[in-house]
Amino acid sequence: MEENRTVVVEFELLGFPTSPQLQVILFLLFLMIYILTLTENLLIIFLVFCDHNLHKPMYFFISNFSAVEIGFTTAAVPKLLSGFLMAKTTISLNCCLTQLYLFFSFGTVEVVFLAIMSFDRYLAICKPLHYSSVMNTRLCTILVIFCWITGFLWIVVPITLVSQLTFCSPNVMNHFICDTSPLFALACVRSYTIEMICYSFTSTMILLCFVLTSTSYIFIIKTILMTSSTTGRRKAFSTCTSHLTVVAIFYGSLIFMYVRTANAEAALDLDKVIALFYSVVTPLINPLIYSLRNKDVIKAVKKAIQNKAK
Ligand SMILES: *[C@@H]1O[C@H](CO)[C@@H](O)[C@H](O)[C@H]1NC(C)=O
Repeated sequence: MEENRTVVVEFELLGFPTSPQLQVILFLLFLMIYILTLTENLLIIFLVFCDHNLHKPMYFFISNFSAVEIGFTTAAVPKLLSGFLMAKTTISLNCCLTQLYLFFSFGTVEVVFLAIMSFDRYLAICKPLHYSSVMNTRLCTILVIFCWITGFLWIVVPITLVSQLTFCSPNVMNHFICDTSPLFALACVRSYTIEMICYSFTSTMILLCFVLTSTSYIFIIKTILMTSSTTGRRKAFSTCTSHLTVVAIFYGSLIFMYVRTANAEAALDLDKVIALFYSVVTPLINPLIYSLRNKDVIKAVKKAIQNKAK
């Protein structure tokens, strides 16, 4: 068996094999979702950029978060779409590594942003008197730069290790993008050291951010429950539920993904569906959660429309 295996520099992505008619429908569906996602997130960036009422740290974080989501979904969707149109989707090793790097870097920036945003909400709700002096433009800018740099540096080590591997035939991945677990399975010689280091890098960052995020929300919820005035409580609650929803969806899908790692072979199809959820669906719904629930954003949209009509 072993002698037949040859080194490969290109992979075949299985994607979602269905009938040709359904492929076209799925292509159109995901193209529409992608266009909608870009529109929503660009709209948020545009509003925060143009409307002076939104020149506050919270909205700077939200608009940066939208930029991250555009990058995250764009790292995955083009391959997904071409998979629906073409009979056979291939990806070169270099493309695969680049895509892997971008996807994981944007994903890491996203978890760091969620942690920083929860910290920002913690300051605003638990330390309201000090908020504006602590969270000034300078600190906000530093935190934003920190998120972006951390995300993109953090993945350098894992991706460098993955690029040391050689891959052997068969070169078929049961996925719509390059993902770590199907890629590791195709290595000529499996290196559990490399797999463990990569796994540790991603889980350490996720765990760290998860602890920071949940600690902030525990304090926030405690403060809200202790607030005696109903109006004050309602106001604090409304800004936080949207943030908390986004956090819950994000970590919910992450935990789901990690739980299935226990029996990876049996759950490869489930794997694809979860990846589809967090790379395509969450970037679509997150801006809706932020903007639909937020009075200032709705006001900014109305103002922009009125200005246009004049
Ligand atoms: C990101 O946040 C900074 C504030 O520190 C802001 O100046 C910038 O416009 C934001 N970028 C985007 C794309 O939203």
